[in-house]
Amino acid sequence: MIDKINQLLETVQAFQPATSAEIEEFRIRMLGKKGALNALFEEFKQVSVDRKKELGGRINTLKMAVQDKIAALKADWENADTEQRNDDLSRPGSNDRLGTRHPISLVKNQIEEIFKRLGYTVAEGPEIEDDWHVFSALNFAPEHPARDMQDTFFVDKENEILLRTHTSSIQVRIMENQQPPIRVICPGRVFRNEAISARAHCIFHQVEGLYIDENVSFADLKQSILYFAKEMFGEEARIRFRPSYFPFTEPSAEVDVSCNLCAGAGCNVCKGTGWLEIMGCGMVDPHVLEACGIDSQKYTGFAFGMGVERIAMLKYGIRDLRLYFENDLRFLSQFDSVI
Ligand code: PHE
Repeated sequence: MIDKINQLLETVQAFQPATSAEIEEFRIRMLGKKGALNALFEEFKQVSVDRKKELGGRINTLKMAVQDKIAALKADWENADTEQRNDDLSRPGSNDRLGTRHPISLVKNQIEEIFKRLGYTVAEGPEIEDDWHVFSALNFAPEHPARDMQDTFFVDKENEILLRTHTSSIQVRIMENQQPPIRVICPGRVFRNEAISARAHCIFHQVEGLYIDENVSFADLKQSILYFAKEMFGEEARIRFRPSYFPFTEPSAEVDVSCNLCAGAGCNVCKGTGWLEIMGCGMVDPHVLEACGIDSQKYTGFAFGMGVERIAMLKYGIRDLRLYFENDLRFLSQFDSVI
């Protein structure tokens, strides 16, 4: 009997199933009604009293070994990769849910697509910048408030290293390295030292554009922006320009688009005016061209810049900027069906 028990113990240790069905077969062969262990217990009844203690202990050890082995094999099987489990056709399928694009990426991609159709290329640049590329080359006066720590995050105040406050810094880098014609859009993350609220955030995204060539005029700017507005907000969209000021453009303007929610009739989103502000723009100031090594006698250009969060808010009727940064799936999964 001892030999039989030892033999069975070896079988248990050596057992290696190829499928989950084999584990079940093994369980029945060992622990089933007509299994090996019950047979042993049957035989055990005939054993003389003086040997009962020793043999009983051995049989129990064997039984525990079988149970442990089966439990371990089952656990391994559950964790095994799908390739090994393919034989189990009754297993419920696993549902891999595809993620959705963030609304900011969707709108940024759409803006890029529209301008690419007008012949623009896309350029990116560093988020940590120096004073020259963010302010000085762009004609900001030395005492301009944007250079203050209240408005700008400085990484190293002494060496004037800072987080870019707009992606115009990329345009400076392009102008420094390339002669016209230049036709480029610059998407990216920007940083401003603002208190976070429904209408303002210290991190947001911009897409800025720049077009420089001979004889570029304000009329070209207007037509390009009109094309963009119609592509983004629909064929009925109208635009208007309001005079404004930026250090790097002259003349400068702010662009409004007709409110796409009330079609210009006036609602609470456009505060009854029928118009929504979408971007700043203007003709590149000759000082900026010269600072970047471009002949301002020969070339003219226009630039524009818009906030991606703002365009997405207007397009999708989003009321609170903070939603973009909270990663709440109830918000994000609404953009499931948008390509
Ligand atoms: N850089 C400006 C901003 O961040 C936007 C702008 C770009 C305005 C180009 C005019 C021309 O607000």
